[in-house]
Amino acid sequence: MARFRITGGTPLSGSVEVSGSKNGSLPLLAAALLVDGEVVLHNIPSIRDINTMIQMLRALGAKAEFRQDGGLAIDSSTVDSVKAPYDLVRRMRGSFYVAGPLLARFGEAQVPLPGGCVIGSRPVDFHIRGFKALGAQVEEKYGVMHGRAERLVGTRIYMDPRLRSVGATVNLTLAATLAEGTTVIENASREPEVVDCQNLLAACGADIEGIGTTTLTIHGVDRLHGTEWTAISDRMEAGTFLIAGALTRGDVTIGSIVPEHLHMVTELLEQAGCEIDTGDRSIRLRMDRRPDAVDVMTAPYPGYPTDLQPATGVLMSVANGVSVIEETIFDARFNYVDELLRMGADVRVMEGAAIFKGVPQLSGAPVLATDIRAGAALILAGLCAEGVTEVSGGALVDRGYEDITGKLRSVGAEIEGLPEADPESSDDECLA
Ligand code: EPU
Repeated sequence: MARFRITGGTPLSGSVEVSGSKNGSLPLLAAALLVDGEVVLHNIPSIRDINTMIQMLRALGAKAEFRQDGGLAIDSSTVDSVKAPYDLVRRMRGSFYVAGPLLARFGEAQVPLPGGCVIGSRPVDFHIRGFKALGAQVEEKYGVMHGRAERLVGTRIYMDPRLRSVGATVNLTLAATLAEGTTVIENASREPEVVDCQNLLAACGADIEGIGTTTLTIHGVDRLHGTEWTAISDRMEAGTFLIAGALTRGDVTIGSIVPEHLHMVTELLEQAGCEIDTGDRSIRLRMDRRPDAVDVMTAPYPGYPTDLQPATGVLMSVANGVSVIEETIFDARFNYVDELLRMGADVRVMEGAAIFKGVPQLSGAPVLATDIRAGAALILAGLCAEGVTEVSGGALVDRGYEDITGKLRSVGAEIEGLPEADPESSDDECLA
């Protein structure tokens, strides 16, 4: 969708089922490149970023097809290229995940460097340093990382504990599974999406100790075999719908989730005054008043997720009182605030933090999404605002949310997706 038009003011009510995780599925698709045999992935969301990764696998020569039962079958025995097309890496940074598997299994990877991103500086230096530590010869020239290694060799990789990297942990784990000998990764990320990828690798025969912890010991194996795997559900989508329920003073039940993955989020929502009931695979949220102001700081898992910081900012913009949100992961992730100001919010962004002085109500306005999460946050702002909000840049939201319009409508939201108003103006892609 190019734009979303939202008429605010309806309390959301009912149940929403969450799709498979975007950030969890991308590593699974890349992992299939390592496997000698077919990998069938279930619960893969139908979103643009997954489509981009499928195009990437195909560009490398792999077969990737959805079966009738919805499973995505990937066979990488036909891979005949180690060159990742720039157009796909430019569209989505997650494409860089193919670098580790290509190096480990095919001995060479030519992957364009992803470049800038609207949410902040996002280099891939930790990935490249790790590949070098594993014995690859890496050159960065003409905007492309070109790595070569007859066979990667296990080593000790010490990652900076102050800046844990989801992407580098995934890429280096993927690479180390087929290396000769043992690799120890210290200060690894342990986001559920990272852990799901490690579990898939183990199901394919990888020998990984310490799954789910910050120290991984990976004993390289000669080959991995095929398997079937179900991706975890999307905790960011779940969190987005929970916050939507809170903002509209609704009563929503979010299903098909792992509640434990959302612990910090439900904790914050309770502090803000929401009533939360947690089931085995669901969370029910009830809210009947203006939220209380709560301070929050983003941090690597199990800390508060940066991907939900913009939606949380919207909640705090209508809270009773003043709250401070500190963003510790990405230096430009308060981009959405300028748009919120246009809807009547009272927010001041300082270095690495924003102070939200809650107002009783936002007012609808035309606003522009600059990345996936900013777009989702502005949709939420529209749901609780008075009047009509039109969010442009909607294609960015479609990158990460499966049928957000249909799901929100199913719980009573007044939202419609619209095609581009002016065919001359197309939204620039962001590299989130
Ligand atoms: N960093 C470096 N060098 C590196 C790698 C990371 O300095 O080589 C820094 C980054 O600049 C950042 C911090 O380390 O300050 C953490 O970055 P990380 O590598 O963890 O982020 P990522 O892997 O690029 C993934 C998600 C993001 C999510 C972050 C943090 C995917 C495809 N993307 O990005 O998701 O915000 O982890 O949890 O998994 C989104 O879904 O909208 C999104 C941006």
